[in-house]
Amino acid sequence: MEHTISINAQKERKVTDTKSVPFGKIPTEHMFIAEYRDGAWHEPQIVPFRDITLSPMALCLHYGQTVFEGMKAFVMEDGKINIFRIHKHYDRFMKSLTRMCMPHIPRDLFVKALHQLVALDADWIPKEEHGSLYIRPFMIATENRIGVKISEEYLFMVVCSPAFQYYSKPLKVKVETTYVRSAEGGTGAAKCGGNYGGAFYPTQQAQQEGYDQILWTDAKNHEFIEESGTMNALFYIDNVLVTPPLSSSILDGVTRDSLITLAREKGIIVEERAISYKELERAFKEGKKVIAFGAGTAAVIAPIESICINGTAYNCYIEKDAIMYELQNDLLNIRKGTTEDKHKWNFIL
Ligand SMILES: Cc1ncc(COP(=O)(O)O)c(C=O)c1O
Repeated sequence: MEHTISINAQKERKVTDTKSVPFGKIPTEHMFIAEYRDGAWHEPQIVPFRDITLSPMALCLHYGQTVFEGMKAFVMEDGKINIFRIHKHYDRFMKSLTRMCMPHIPRDLFVKALHQLVALDADWIPKEEHGSLYIRPFMIATENRIGVKISEEYLFMVVCSPAFQYYSKPLKVKVETTYVRSAEGGTGAAKCGGNYGGAFYPTQQAQQEGYDQILWTDAKNHEFIEESGTMNALFYIDNVLVTPPLSSSILDGVTRDSLITLAREKGIIVEERAISYKELERAFKEGKKVIAFGAGTAAVIAPIESICINGTAYNCYIEKDAIMYELQNDLLNIRKGTTEDKHKWNFIL
């Protein structure tokens, strides 16, 4: 079925000076909204950004049936606009929805919604280096019912916000060996709200101890690195780029996938395998150069300055010639259109 999106456009709000505003704080002028009921999507529309009303009995408020995505649009060197890897984000969104028993959205509706919304609010995309438009598609369960059940009604919405660098400096992280973010067979591979709410307390504890982020470990042994905050974790030791393999407990990061693809193309050996904190500890103790970084849409790459393992902080290599900056530049050049987009990652409006 072809979906026609009705558009109620306004041009009233001025584009705000976005550089000094914290990530995700200002919405652009419009949003997309569609309602699911009686087994189908209805009234897809782009409207001026506004609040929504929900019954206090809406299921999403009680049982966490919510899923979201996070992706970015860029102004390219030639002035065209590019939504990066729209189809991979769509695929992941569908996987998350399946895991949370939520209805899928037709691909053409998803693509059209993002295309039309981003085109309408294109003047909100910062053109400066590291500027982008953060796009947040999400779905919530809206059936009014206090009872633990799968909702029969949903809202699918897309909002956008101008974005710059997520972290202003390299991170101090701690290997977490008490709390877990998710376990094998759990919802870690789904981008559902509960994963994040559950991570707040351990992250707050770590921040009170002076760390910026946590390196999560596996739920069984608290030994193997999983990921960090809203990023996948990558390490470059002995000329090999190592990252934990995809599993049911970590998110299949689009940035992770992009960076390891680019790394392999440069001839770098990439290993997707379990990496124990003991292996990291050994490398540090042997005086090896350890490069560690997070990879995610919001931050792109976040260099890690130090890793605390069982109370001892070890310094990582973060000088300008570290491999992560080169990989980041390769990625940025594809997004900007200054190098060939061999894998058709750019969705150009
Ligand atoms: C838990 C988690 N891991 C990893 C990532 C990185 O994924 P991506 O590169 O697709 O943004 C994110 C961000 O979406 C995340 O929330």
